[in-house]
Amino acid sequence: MKVVIWGCGDFGRRVLPNLIMSEKYEVIAYTDSNEGIWGKNLLSIPIIAPEQLMGQIFDLLLIVVSSPSAAEKIRAESLRLGIPQNRVVNAFEDFRFMDLFVDQRICFIRGYADWVRSEKAEGNVAECGVFRGDSAKYINCYFPDRKLYLCDTFEGFDSGDMQYEKDNSEIFDKSRFSDQSFFMETGSTLVMRKMPYPKNVVIKEGYFPESMQGVEDKFCFVNLDMDLYIPMLNGLRFFWDKMVDNGCILLHDYFSGVFKGVKQAVETFEKEREIQIKKMPIGDGCSMALLKD
Ligand SMILES: C[S@@+](CC[C@H](N)C(=O)[O-])C[C@H]1O[C@@H](n2cnc3c(N)ncnc32)[C@H](O)[C@@H]1O
Repeated sequence: MKVVIWGCGDFGRRVLPNLIMSEKYEVIAYTDSNEGIWGKNLLSIPIIAPEQLMGQIFDLLLIVVSSPSAAEKIRAESLRLGIPQNRVVNAFEDFRFMDLFVDQRICFIRGYADWVRSEKAEGNVAECGVFRGDSAKYINCYFPDRKLYLCDTFEGFDSGDMQYEKDNSEIFDKSRFSDQSFFMETGSTLVMRKMPYPKNVVIKEGYFPESMQGVEDKFCFVNLDMDLYIPMLNGLRFFWDKMVDNGCILLHDYFSGVFKGVKQAVETFEKEREIQIKKMPIGDGCSMALLKD
């Protein structure tokens, strides 16, 4: 299949090696709305202007931009350019392309899920910090027999949590993440559309940990990805005693230079409980696995 990728940003770059390795696809060009890069190459693939698409022979126009509204605009633009719409696919919304975004963290989740099954470990699974569901869909995929709780405001950071972070971290304050609108472009409907086993998914919309009040399940795997000190500390407080033996809490951004509150949250929690948690870096340069004894 001859493919043109629309999107030369981080995700557009990331998908190329996996597309090539799948051997089903031949990427013939990139395109992008940014005219400053037309005529250049990205990873040895030429970047053409969208207007040139009709002069190309291709089977698939793969939209690879993380913002849903940008993806919709691109789809509308492709329609205007006369590209048959059955050839236009948003990579973030089509199960066939799930593997394109697989990285070390997703491999860890898959491996851990296999291990949980082989050990016949009990417990449900959860993710706090879902955003557009792009890690949650893998948790749902690899734990097909477990209830998956998905917690997010679906409106971005809470203003109180964010103010605390700004007051305590100049690096965060100056970063692009300190813009309240950064994680706003999402919603539970969009997330649910991406779930391979939606019947197992329980959406907990609203401020965490209040949104999980009353849930007393046991958990074998929890992905905490809320970036900031206060919700990450609350995540540990909420889940730690609910983890089964050998259960795992995966903390994203533990090694982040911007979200320094994540590591601090673990230190505070260990002091509070007077415990030393077993930790294992998972090799993505970002995440730490915490293992329950
Ligand atoms: C980095 S994003 C999650 C990314 C997602 N796990 C992924 O890999 O695609 C962080 C999310 O945490 C959510 N969040 C942060 N603090 C929260 C809180 N106290 N309650 C609920 N959601 C929160 C934000 O709304 C945002 O969507």
